[in-house]
Amino acid sequence: MAKLIGNKKNIAVFISGRGSNLKHLIKNSKYKNSLFKVNLVISNNPIALGLKYSKKSKIKFYVINYKNLLSSEIRILKLLKKFKIELICLAGFMKIISKNFINKFNKPILNIHPSLLPKYKGLNTHFKALKNKDKYSGSTVHLVNAKLDSGKIILQKKVKIAKSDNVRSLEKKILKEEHKIYSEAVCKVLSNL
Ligand code: GRF
Repeated sequence: MAKLIGNKKNIAVFISGRGSNLKHLIKNSKYKNSLFKVNLVISNNPIALGLKYSKKSKIKFYVINYKNLLSSEIRILKLLKKFKIELICLAGFMKIISKNFINKFNKPILNIHPSLLPKYKGLNTHFKALKNKDKYSGSTVHLVNAKLDSGKIILQKKVKIAKSDNVRSLEKKILKEEHKIYSEAVCKVLSNL
């Protein structure tokens, strides 16, 4: 990981479910020479399992109900300001991020996607890779823009698909790599700000 220059930058992580990427971002943020601190967690789901990681590390979290996209995003933008957030990580966040939100925040928003983008945007990526008998799959960290899974690629990690792999085993292999590359990608972007 890159060396610390000045203070750690505050990041926010947006989740909807399990939160294993959140868990590893928090873990990696605690190293002395990490460039970032997870200062805020946002979830649209009050029972997201991943919320336990923010509780455990005493990181403030907010559940936003998303009944209305515009007012939910206005509320989140205020929180991002309050917590001095420099970068957002979407980690299994299942809600739309509007163009208006991207423009208003005007700082990097990253997403992690379980395929070798531009291949297999959207859902069921492991199923698609297996069905097409691909030799490799993997994970991609990319910048978020208004189009689904389409922003500039920051980091990508290839994973070999074994003949014996199924959706579960492939997901497990790829997740293991996601847990490493997400923090690396955050550092890469932050050190270029
Ligand atoms: C990961 O597979 C990630 O690539 C995708 O959603 C999943 C989130 O997993 N965007 P977790 O909630 O971080 O465990």
